[in-house]
Amino acid sequence: MVDYERFCRFLEQSCGIVLGPGKMYLVSSRLAPLLREQGLSGLGELVQRLESGRSRALRVAVVDAMTTNETLWFRDGHPFELLKEEVLERLSGPRAGPVRIWSAACSTGQEPYSISMAVQECNEKSPGRLPAGVEIIATDISPSVLKQAREGIYEELELRRGLSPERRQRFFRDLGDGRMQVREDIRRRVTFRELNLLQSYVGLGRLDVVFLRNVLIYFSHENKSDILRRVAQALRPPGYLFLGGSEPMASYSDAFEMVRCRRGVVYRLKEGAGGGINARGR
Ligand SMILES: C[S@@+](CC[C@H](N)C(=O)[O-])C[C@H]1O[C@@H](n2cnc3c(N)ncnc32)[C@H](O)[C@@H]1O
Repeated sequence: MVDYERFCRFLEQSCGIVLGPGKMYLVSSRLAPLLREQGLSGLGELVQRLESGRSRALRVAVVDAMTTNETLWFRDGHPFELLKEEVLERLSGPRAGPVRIWSAACSTGQEPYSISMAVQECNEKSPGRLPAGVEIIATDISPSVLKQAREGIYEELELRRGLSPERRQRFFRDLGDGRMQVREDIRRRVTFRELNLLQSYVGLGRLDVVFLRNVLIYFSHENKSDILRRVAQALRPPGYLFLGGSEPMASYSDAFEMVRCRRGVVYRLKEGAGGGINARGR
């Protein structure tokens, strides 16, 4: 098998990303700095090292280099409006614990912080509607994006993408060097951790809402179905799921039904689907 095919196989097995033929240029340009840094002669030597399984750090660095971390604030708008107007409304009222929301491929943090800002706007509009609060668990496979996400510090170019002047004013503090940091009360609601979507979700506990946006597009049909099956198991009814705009549920899972709300779409667990991840019901 040629080096490129061996590399594609390694990448899909490690993180689910399917490259397909014709992405050699992408691979070369993404890996060039790493090859230089590691003193490796080329893809062949890299693949050999990866296949020997001796260096976890190298494997992590390669996956990190190959992930696409494109993201922005309030991406596509309507999922966050739907969250505020429909989903949190349905999950409001007395309950045993907080509403638990998972941002499942959170990249540099714009998605979970947008969720936290939407929750804040909800709380201000209808105080007491979510008496037990909201907990946001944000995960990604890439340690480098998680580092920035945890700090919650953004450059001007990042701040310009999707953030209204009002939200920028309300939810950030100016660091005085051209960067801004997400305000502490917005950050406090979010916990970040490393998680590969191909691995178990049991440690996350029971969830009410999942944002799984703009990541399934990179995976095979088989991995998409498997991930959606396990997301359904992690959700407790009524259980809501947001996918990216170009990621229809189509033939991947029959555990969800589509709920159309004005401009947007959210998926909801079908009766009898999902549940049962651990005995404490969390
Ligand atoms: C294009 S970004 C999407 C970010 C955000 N969800 C959004 O819609 O703006 C895709 C993210 O998925 C992450 N990712 C790719 N494969 C993954 C895997 N197997 N497990 C967890 N995260 C993964 C990447 O590191 C990247 O940050």
